[in-house]
Amino acid sequence: MRKITVVGAGNVGATAAQRLAERELARSIVMIDVADGIPQGKALDQWESAPVEGFDSRVNGSTSYDAAEGSDLFIVTAGIARKPGMSRDDLLKTNAGIVASVSKEIARVAPDSIIIMVSNPLDVMAWVAMKASGFPRERVLGMAGVLDTARYRSFIALELDCSVEDIQALVLGGHGDTMVPLVSYTSVGGIPITQLISQERIDALIERTRKGGAEIVAHLKTGSAYYAPSAAAVQMAEAIARDKKRILPCAAYLTGEYGQEGLFLGVPCKLGHGGLLEVLEVELTNEERADLERSATAVRDTIAKLDGV
Ligand code: NAI
Ligand code: 2OP
Repeated sequence: MRKITVVGAGNVGATAAQRLAERELARSIVMIDVADGIPQGKALDQWESAPVEGFDSRVNGSTSYDAAEGSDLFIVTAGIARKPGMSRDDLLKTNAGIVASVSKEIARVAPDSIIIMVSNPLDVMAWVAMKASGFPRERVLGMAGVLDTARYRSFIALELDCSVEDIQALVLGGHGDTMVPLVSYTSVGGIPITQLISQERIDALIERTRKGGAEIVAHLKTGSAYYAPSAAAVQMAEAIARDKKRILPCAAYLTGEYGQEGLFLGVPCKLGHGGLLEVLEVELTNEERADLERSATAVRDTIAKLDGV
């Protein structure tokens, strides 16, 4: 790719920009933020790491969207983050206004670009971005499933004291307490997890995954997770930039898949050049289908709260 822009040069955004540059996923990496000096200073600092890390992606920061003109892809992290005791929905109205204005700017300076939304509440912010940008569903995706699945995989690896690389798993649904980790699609080196871990312990790992974001907030106290979230967003960007056709759980706008339409929900997606290539429909047990339905209802309820924003 020629240019990737990260909007919001805070914890997730700046870490994502550094990861993008270190992987040379685009010739030019841009950070945009409203806080004058922050994107410029962080970008210069990152660029000064280039001779040590050995990358040639140029990193620049700005408060103006002129710097993002013609970008192929945007990772949007602008907004306010969760503080202790704050639910994702508390962020709703502030972040909806921010994301709508950011998405309009993106459509103005890069009308053919792809948006990976990160700001919370994720599934609803992706919906706001699609409406505000006017982009088709192929070019608006939300990052949550890769992060939630990574957390689930990392906890399973701790439980079994084995490599994270051998753990395959899938977490669907909205990015919130109603997310749906699929036990029937969780395996370790090809072995179904139910043959390796007791149901009681699997339930505990699922509960920890559901509360994974809050667990980090409780430790940090002044903000939320950013190392794993930035890694997850950059994995999606890499799948698109390198046309890898990876199958990753992402929030996608559904048009009837899984019996849902008109909202973003975490589902298995094929990502490559152009963004979303395909939504894959997998078989679900009755219980998993009911959980996904509950998750979709939670996302719809949050969209309904946006009325008038
Ligand atoms: P942060 O507070 O460190 O950074 C946010 C940045 O956005 C700040 O630098 C702020 O100045 C900037 N900003 C605010 N309004 C803006 C605007 N109109 N245009 C451009 N920039 C603007 O927050 P952090 O930790 O980086 O989190 C960012 C967002 O990502 C939050 O909404 C957070 O909840 C969400 N998040 C989502 C995850 C997911 O799984 N989808 C995981 C982790 C965070
Ligand atoms: C997380 O899951 C806050 O959504 C963010 O860490």
